[in-house]
Amino acid sequence: MVKAVVLGAAGGIGQPLALLLKANPLVTELGLYDIVNTPGVAADLSHIATPAKVQGFLPPDDGLKKVLTGADIVVIPAGVPRKPGMTRDDLFKINAGIVKGLATGIATTAPKAFVLVISNPVNSTVPIVAETFKKHGVFDPKRLFGVTTLDVVRASTFVSEIIGDLSLAPKVVVPVVGGHSGVTIVPLLSQSSHPLPSSLSEDSHAALVHRIQFGGDEVVKAKDGAGSATLSMAYAGAEFAAKVIRAIQGEKGIVAPSYVSLESDAEGAAALTKELGQELAYFSSNVELGVDGVAKLHPLGKLTEGEQALVKAAIPELVKNIETGVKFVADSY
Ligand code: NAD
Ligand code: LMR
Repeated sequence: MVKAVVLGAAGGIGQPLALLLKANPLVTELGLYDIVNTPGVAADLSHIATPAKVQGFLPPDDGLKKVLTGADIVVIPAGVPRKPGMTRDDLFKINAGIVKGLATGIATTAPKAFVLVISNPVNSTVPIVAETFKKHGVFDPKRLFGVTTLDVVRASTFVSEIIGDLSLAPKVVVPVVGGHSGVTIVPLLSQSSHPLPSSLSEDSHAALVHRIQFGGDEVVKAKDGAGSATLSMAYAGAEFAAKVIRAIQGEKGIVAPSYVSLESDAEGAAALTKELGQELAYFSSNVELGVDGVAKLHPLGKLTEGEQALVKAAIPELVKNIETGVKFVADSY
């Protein structure tokens, strides 16, 4: 029995994500919450012939408390998306408060739930959830995940395009580490399950790294003011949620990159910190998932000189983003 909840369920990501969760046979209950339109979305999805019982809630009448009651996994795509010319950090002003409010609801109603944060800027919103949970005395670092799966999905797609066979895309695995914005997105192409063509020029290699780091901008530009990635994000979010659900049901050996607290695995964090050359409170590395959430943080492994430089460039930005999230919560109490 798994109850999945989507907070921000009527939005561009929320609706297709809810559809994909409804299609997941492991989900037996699906709770949808938004400030608008969830009764309609829930009624629509409830006609699909899969096991999940669907219910939609709005803020009045304790809707947040009702949707979160009994939740096993909570996915948060609530908040505003980018428009052309904006960075993800420009969303902080609005999204920080939204995420903190929802985190407060989870802390008080479903403190044991696994929480998957999609709302941007992820590098800062994940610390906001953690700090809010700490204020309520319920923070379990193993249960909090920043969803960076879209970067992994993009890497698989773009690498298979360069190899010249898009049919490989579902099988191509590239670890993408660091965080989720611009230079903090670090694809480890040397560890791709499917090597890049040896004929690939240095310039083409650099362009591929850039495309993975700034893939979000490509969609924001193409949508021309109508938002950012929604469908690919819903796909990515549902993929990661499905992995967490399988892991908490006992499946072993599931590994995926995710932006997590380094408090989630002291031993793994020590090895990672050594590789990074400094302490960071949060980092996205390959995470082994288990019944309690994070089972093991994997080290980065062998990196090329170019990849080492990318990791080095990501660190100051991550430090700044993490501090911004932590400070926001500290200042608001
Ligand atoms: P959207 O505007 O289409 O949908 C957001 C939804 O959140 C809306 O339905 C809105 O009503 C709802 N909402 C706002 N405040 C709320 C609150 N307090 N409680 C519940 N719901 C609330 O936006 P979108 O395109 O779905 O994007 C959502 C967020 O996801 C953005 O911050 C975007 O930047 C982020 N995003 C992250 C990734 C990633 O890889 N992590 C990828 C794409 C988008
Ligand atoms: C993405 O990577 O597509 C998302 O983070 C949305 C954005 O703002 O680019």
